[in-house]
Amino acid sequence: MRIEENASLEPYNTLRVAARCRFLVQLQSLSDVDEFIADARFRHVPRMILGGGSNLLLRGDFDGVVARVALRGMETVRSDTGAVYLRAAAGEDWHTFVVWTIEHGYAGLENLSLIPGTVGGAPIQNIGAYGVELSDVLHCVEAVHTVSGEARTFDKNACKFSYRESVFKRGERANYIITAITVRLPHTPRYVTDYHGVRQALRDNDITEPNAHSISQAVCQLRRAKLPDPDKLGNAGSFFKNPVLSDARLTSLRRRHSQLPAYPQANGDYKIPAAWLLEQCGWKGRRQGDAGFYDRHALVLVNHGHASGAELLALADRARQDVLDRFGIELEFEPQII
Ligand code: EPU
Repeated sequence: MRIEENASLEPYNTLRVAARCRFLVQLQSLSDVDEFIADARFRHVPRMILGGGSNLLLRGDFDGVVARVALRGMETVRSDTGAVYLRAAAGEDWHTFVVWTIEHGYAGLENLSLIPGTVGGAPIQNIGAYGVELSDVLHCVEAVHTVSGEARTFDKNACKFSYRESVFKRGERANYIITAITVRLPHTPRYVTDYHGVRQALRDNDITEPNAHSISQAVCQLRRAKLPDPDKLGNAGSFFKNPVLSDARLTSLRRRHSQLPAYPQANGDYKIPAAWLLEQCGWKGRRQGDAGFYDRHALVLVNHGHASGAELLALADRARQDVLDRFGIELEFEPQII
């Protein structure tokens, strides 16, 4: 187990906040995980389990131990008449796993191409894009309890997934280290191409019979056009969740804001694009020092250089307050604030 003291977390969070931690531990094997849990030095200090750091805002230094999950490996577990089961270790890069599944001839993850972060982070916020959520394909999550060291497999129901939520984001976050996930991909693919941008990108590429590969290409094209590459401009993807409103609330809001876009949900509620609300309040492309909102997508908070976590959070709070004042809608942060 590799341990570094007073380590910089800047390379390990995609918002590129220059925070430090007391200890940084790299977990490269399951025996590293066991060793970390058993280590008396880390028993009574605050702990943070880190994947790709792509859904995280560090307010400041972390006076505790950060355990970075670096477990590797991808494999086909089994195949039955209906589907194939593919397993990836938590430290694998998410997009690398998506590409690996497509190269092996499987479909189901293509809409989730190019999402930054690791495999282990994916179930925590139930990553989703272009009409697909991880919960649509997830079979199980393997995890180790951070105190007892006991290994546990969470089947899909036990993960309690909803929009950008899971049991790991709420109560169990501090209690488990996710070590691997298994996805179940049906042999007969069900391609999801009804998202406007995806349909358009396929048309632009003259694709009439889409497959996992061409959908993945279209999604990558869309994401590259709209979302900043964290290697070039610090960001944590969507910084706010899209709020969900009842029919009655939407009707009442539309009396004053007739243009308010809304997407119907299966239960009769409506999802409102937070990016639209922020753009209406003038936040798209706005900047204060090195903290700002991306000029091509209002939902993305960006670090133009040396913004601190506190500066980024203060800007996000101001934007949230503006949306509340103007629309009466309280936006929720999407990343974890630590
Ligand atoms: N819009 C604006 N201004 C903007 C950008 C968008 O008004 O600057 C409006 C437009 O009306 C647009 C609508 O917002 O039609 C939706 O925009 P987009 O398709 O980009 O999707 P989003 O709702 O902003 C969500 C996810 C993304 C995911 C995309 C595509 C959340 C919080 N975000 O964004 O996920 O990639 O849909 O499915 O649900 C992430 O979670 O980090 C993430 C990037």
